[in-house]
Amino acid sequence: MKLYELTDEERINYLLEANYITTEQADFLKSRKSLPEDLADSLSENQIGIFGLPYGFATDFTVNGKDYIIPMSIEEPSVIAAASNGAKRIRNSGGFKASVGKHIVYGQIVLESVKVDTFDLLNQNHNDIIQFANDAHPSLIKRGGGISSLELHKYDDMIELEIGVDTVDAMGANIVNTILEKTAKKVAFITDCDVLCSILSNSGVGQVVTVQADVDFDKLSTSTMSGQEVAQRIVMLTKFARQSVKRAITHNKGIMNGVDAVVMATGNDYRAQEAAAQEFASQTGRYSPLSNWTIINGRLHGELTMPVEIGSVGGAISSMPMAQLSLSMMKVYGSKELRAVIGAVGLANNLSALRALVTTGIQAGHMSLQSKSLAVTAGAVGNEIKLVAAELNNQKNYSLDNAKKVLKELRNK
Ligand code: MEV
Repeated sequence: MKLYELTDEERINYLLEANYITTEQADFLKSRKSLPEDLADSLSENQIGIFGLPYGFATDFTVNGKDYIIPMSIEEPSVIAAASNGAKRIRNSGGFKASVGKHIVYGQIVLESVKVDTFDLLNQNHNDIIQFANDAHPSLIKRGGGISSLELHKYDDMIELEIGVDTVDAMGANIVNTILEKTAKKVAFITDCDVLCSILSNSGVGQVVTVQADVDFDKLSTSTMSGQEVAQRIVMLTKFARQSVKRAITHNKGIMNGVDAVVMATGNDYRAQEAAAQEFASQTGRYSPLSNWTIINGRLHGELTMPVEIGSVGGAISSMPMAQLSLSMMKVYGSKELRAVIGAVGLANNLSALRALVTTGIQAGHMSLQSKSLAVTAGAVGNEIKLVAAELNNQKNYSLDNAKKVLKELRNK
């Protein structure tokens, strides 16, 4: 049996038997109480309910020689299938290679009404300011992080102190904002200037991940196209994305399908992730594809470089049971590893999308996966959902009217 042919309960049992989750975690998933009421109330204001999103997992990921199951939370039916599909082609060709640098979050303290000597005064106190900023969050030093840089930038009548902070495994927004607000008071005292604001930057330049994969041609072929031709067409389509901004945006959307779904499943801040990725795609002054595909030594070579702005501890990640379950299921140890895996998911989704686009197009796969939700929209319940979906796939007619007709016929049998 294929995973998609199992019931959700059977899939949970599969994860349990394969040791990806514990008995308690399996029971928790089966209870379908993903977010305790009191926690939901404390996470957001004016809470009146819990917005559900499907939670599933992608398979066949091997990143830097280690195998992973990837939890993903997303409402678009083909994304998990695409991730697994791309990952399998890559695993069978040797797997993903990922490299991840330090986790540096930048923050800005902006001074206004600056005087002629303010810049020099700040320069003279450079080391003291760093020391003060480090003292503002002593536990960070204990965990191996702390201030990594302090730069001063002049803007007409304003000066910016740009502070880099190694936040280790935390996404770092709260840590950095705490450091900045405390340090800003000290800076105001030293300079006798007004602080306009102190806030982290969601720039991801300090959190860049590079993921590469080489795919054998024979892993790309279809019934009507050779793998080499598929690879050449993927290269051509990527070249087009470098020339057409409209295509680059959609190319990147395919990457973000995978990235965001894991960011969501791990309780991370998807708005921060999106902001960072879009900044990175525009860094040359022209919006560009985040990945590139070329042919090297007779194989399709993919490379994705992008910021992955997440954490593996802190905030909602540590309090939300589903986020904890996701991290535990993936067996990732720290944000560095999680960032590598998320980059790999982005590249896997990208490969699947491009392969589909240059061969059969995406609608065939897309619609057959959406047939279940179409059946539900048409009113199907319980066992009817599978039966109506199967008939829609059989007829390859995915209109809502047809789904209603098929349901009616089924009920009249
Ligand atoms: C759909 O969610 C994503 C794609 O449009 C990405 C792409 O075009 O590369 C298939």
